[in-house]
Amino acid sequence: MLKLCGLQFLLLIQSAMWLNLEGLRVSGPLKDMDFFVQEGGGPRILHQFTLEPPAVSFRMSGEKAGIIDIEPRTGILYINGSLDWETKQVHKLQVESLDESGSKVKGPYSVTIHVEDINDNPPEFDQKRYFGIVRQNSRPGKPFMYVHATDRDDPTTPHAQLSYSILHHFPNPYKEMLFQIDNATGAISPSRTGSYYLDPQKQAIFTLVVSVKDMAGTTINAFTSSVDVIITVMESLWKAPPIIHIKENSTQVHPVNISKVWSNEPDVIYDIFEKEKLPRLPFSISKNGDIYVTEPLDREEKDTYTFFVVTKDNTGELVDKPLQIHVIVDDINDNPPVCQKPLTIIEVQENEMGGSNIGTVLATDMDKEDTLNSRLRFQIQSQEPEFPEKNLFYIQKDTGILQLTGRSLRKRESAKYFLKVLVTDSKYETICDVEVHVIDINDQIPIFEKSDYDSVTMAENMPIGTVILEIQATDGDEPDTGSSLIIYQVKEGDPNNTFIIETDSQTNRGFVKINKALDFETMPVYNLVINATNPEPLVPHVQYNSSSTTKFKVVVRNVDEPPVFPHPVYKAEVSEDIPVNTLVMTVEAYDPEKDSVRYSLEGDVRKWLRIDPATGQVYTNSPLDREAEEIYSIEVVASEKNNAAQKSKAPLILHLLDVNDNPPEIATDYPTFFCYPVSGGEKTLIQATDADKQYFYSKFTFSLADEMNTRNNWEISKFNATHAYLSPKHANFEEKVYDVPIVLNDNGNPALQNKVNLKVSICKCSSENSCFIEINREHSWPTPGQAIGILLAVLLVIGAILAGVFCHMKHKEKNEKSHPKDAKDKAELNRLA
Ligand SMILES: *[C@@H]1O[C@H](CO)[C@@H](O)[C@H](O)[C@H]1NC(C)=O
Ligand SMILES: *[C@@H]1O[C@H](CO)[C@@H](O)[C@H](O)[C@H]1NC(C)=O
Ligand SMILES: *[C@@H]1O[C@H](CO)[C@@H](O)[C@H](O)[C@H]1NC(C)=O
Ligand SMILES: *[C@@H]1O[C@H](CO)[C@@H](O)[C@H](O)[C@H]1NC(C)=O
Ligand SMILES: *[C@@H]1O[C@H](CO)[C@@H](O)[C@H](O)[C@H]1NC(C)=O
Ligand SMILES: *[C@@H]1O[C@H](CO)[C@@H](O)[C@H](O)[C@H]1NC(C)=O
Ligand SMILES: *[C@@H]1O[C@H](CO)[C@@H](O)[C@H](O)[C@H]1NC(C)=O
Ligand SMILES: *[C@@H]1O[C@H](CO)[C@@H](O)[C@H](O)[C@H]1NC(C)=O
Repeated sequence: MLKLCGLQFLLLIQSAMWLNLEGLRVSGPLKDMDFFVQEGGGPRILHQFTLEPPAVSFRMSGEKAGIIDIEPRTGILYINGSLDWETKQVHKLQVESLDESGSKVKGPYSVTIHVEDINDNPPEFDQKRYFGIVRQNSRPGKPFMYVHATDRDDPTTPHAQLSYSILHHFPNPYKEMLFQIDNATGAISPSRTGSYYLDPQKQAIFTLVVSVKDMAGTTINAFTSSVDVIITVMESLWKAPPIIHIKENSTQVHPVNISKVWSNEPDVIYDIFEKEKLPRLPFSISKNGDIYVTEPLDREEKDTYTFFVVTKDNTGELVDKPLQIHVIVDDINDNPPVCQKPLTIIEVQENEMGGSNIGTVLATDMDKEDTLNSRLRFQIQSQEPEFPEKNLFYIQKDTGILQLTGRSLRKRESAKYFLKVLVTDSKYETICDVEVHVIDINDQIPIFEKSDYDSVTMAENMPIGTVILEIQATDGDEPDTGSSLIIYQVKEGDPNNTFIIETDSQTNRGFVKINKALDFETMPVYNLVINATNPEPLVPHVQYNSSSTTKFKVVVRNVDEPPVFPHPVYKAEVSEDIPVNTLVMTVEAYDPEKDSVRYSLEGDVRKWLRIDPATGQVYTNSPLDREAEEIYSIEVVASEKNNAAQKSKAPLILHLLDVNDNPPEIATDYPTFFCYPVSGGEKTLIQATDADKQYFYSKFTFSLADEMNTRNNWEISKFNATHAYLSPKHANFEEKVYDVPIVLNDNGNPALQNKVNLKVSICKCSSENSCFIEINREHSWPTPGQAIGILLAVLLVIGAILAGVFCHMKHKEKNEKSHPKDAKDKAELNRLA
């Protein structure tokens, strides 16, 4: 289309000087026509209709928009101005040709002008500013607001395709943005960082500058607009409520509302799950987050609960982090006091003085301790008999300690008193029964049947618990009371409590037992002095005398014990290269009976060590080799010199430290070959290995031996620490096996060097790029008879190789991933067979 400036345009139309401008076919006879015109761009000529006699002029009607017209005489169709796609996208016009008299010759023909959009409208945001609210800890990527812009350009073209982005974000305290925008929808959401860091206490207001670009944001020529978005950060609603206190044994109608949680997100599903393993969790949550206790709780059964509340979306995904809810069950006084024993029996000696403490009435209360709910008080309710008078006893109100009031008791007045003790907490009361037994005074001492039990002899290995003696004393006081019960104790001669004496309370017989192992070597003889006493004190004028003690001698017999190693295991670390006859360590055992000890080794299968039988010194006996065995475990034996059957063993472990004593080698897992004919510059990887520890071979150097032809024919270049490339240098190689001398060095200290002859085949290759079977070819062609023989032989060889390959592969598969070349070889061989 030809565009002209206004003046030229007018001249052109007026003079009707119409040419076939720039070779465009812009003229033709009157017919239906469609034109495509870009919007804007000013006045222009679209077409010229040629007059066909008798027509002498044209006439146009329709949607001219005031600027589209035809020059009647010349037939030039023009636009006197700019069309606007956004105003009208299609103009429908009709054109007729007229004769001299003004009557229609042809037509009307329809002329349609399609206006094409150009990107002439910047996008515009719907609002001058946007305001949004986001909650702390909102889910990343969950939109909390939208911005929206429109563009008046053709929505079917990129001119109106909008892309949103965040240009700035004030303030921006972290490396990553706290907000993100969906470039297509304008949805603004917290970023991952934002979800984590947004905190109204730190920064409550953010200003984002959001920009929108048309042309889908893909070109720098796109129109851009921007808008401020003010975001207020609000505190998270999703917070654990403070600790919830619930009174136990509540009489309210359950379930009872005890708390509430709010999610930051609408339409979430609340749920509850236990943290502790419980038979059932007595809590529930409603669909709007109210937490209920479902039944009365019992503090005495469980006094605290912890559980989680969670929110899920309708797909079951967690929306917020689980919150921990703590519940404390508060005590109420709902437990009565309980007597510790159904009947408390207290013995009182006749001579017990008034005011003496004679015992305690024990009671408990399950309500919370150290609260008034479990505070107990004691009171004597009744005394039976009330003879010789009432109130013989007194109880301390707050402790339950029972005392005699004013006088001693007399057995002949009453041998027993029954008391009812009232125990109360602030609400409940319980009666505890107490029986007071009046007992004879302890005025008799235990008298031993013998003042000396002589002696026993026993082996030192006698087991603990063995009864070695029974003893007997008698006491004349009232039977079955603390005045007549006898306690036997070793008074002298047993500092370490090697013996213990138990009493049969029915018969007062004493059993002397071994309490700890005897040992002849530390204590061969015990001279024991045993006393007999009563648990009740003696009356003042009576005392234990020598009749309450006895003697007893224990003789320990020695048992021959094997030698003892003071350590459970003997370990040493040595370098694998230490010379023969080096002292490795010294082991030492002793014999409890002081016999001399002889040493020997067991399990020294490699004959690496020897031991001096007398001193226990262990020496190397032959060269060690870490590569054969890194941790060498044997046993050292200690036996008595005079009784070799008495022996003990201890493990001896030698840890060998590596030294660089193995030269590097070329790994020969895979043959090295090049396909014939060689063109020069091909390369293949070769690998070096070393039996020493990683430390020494972690780096190898590869070089070619300085020999005739080697360096002319081959080239070696480092690939990595363990591998190098080998390349033929030229193309003149024969089809045969070459020896390539390669020098390898490891990086040990000192480094070891090795010269190896690498066999490199130059062979005819299969399509899969592996060698055909390596058979030394005959130099001349075989006769047909020989050929069949050779063929059979070849088939046999193939069979053998196949079998070999399969075995090899099986084996390989077990250890490591099969090398891909194996598979290729197999395919190749299958093809041949
Ligand atoms: C084109 O428009 C201008 C003013 O808008 C007017 O002066 C002129 O006459 C018009 N020319 C034609 C050929 O209609
Ligand atoms: C808009 O976002 C999508 C998905 O996040 C992305 O693949 C695309 O490259 C973005 N477009 C622009 C213009 O940034
Ligand atoms: C609850 O209290 C009542 C008296 O108020 C009491 O009888 C009941 O034993 C109490 N229940 C528990 C479980 O403590
Ligand atoms: C439950 O109790 C909480 C306060 O603990 C209150 O906010 C909530 O409105 C109550 N819910 C109902 C249903 O009464
Ligand atoms: C009896 O022997 C034990 C243990 O040696 C000692 O504590 C106690 O005082 C002795 N009793 C008498 C009365 O000697
Ligand atoms: C008592 O124990 C000590 C320390 O274990 C020990 O040295 C001593 O030999 C022991 N005495 C007896 C008689 O067993
Ligand atoms: C010890 O005392 C009792 C009486 O209490 C007496 O029969 C006995 O003879 C006394 N023994 C000695 C050795 O004095
Ligand atoms: C050297 O390269 C080979 C082949 O890629 C690889 O198997 C080997 O692990 C590499 N060695 C080291 C030390 O990186």
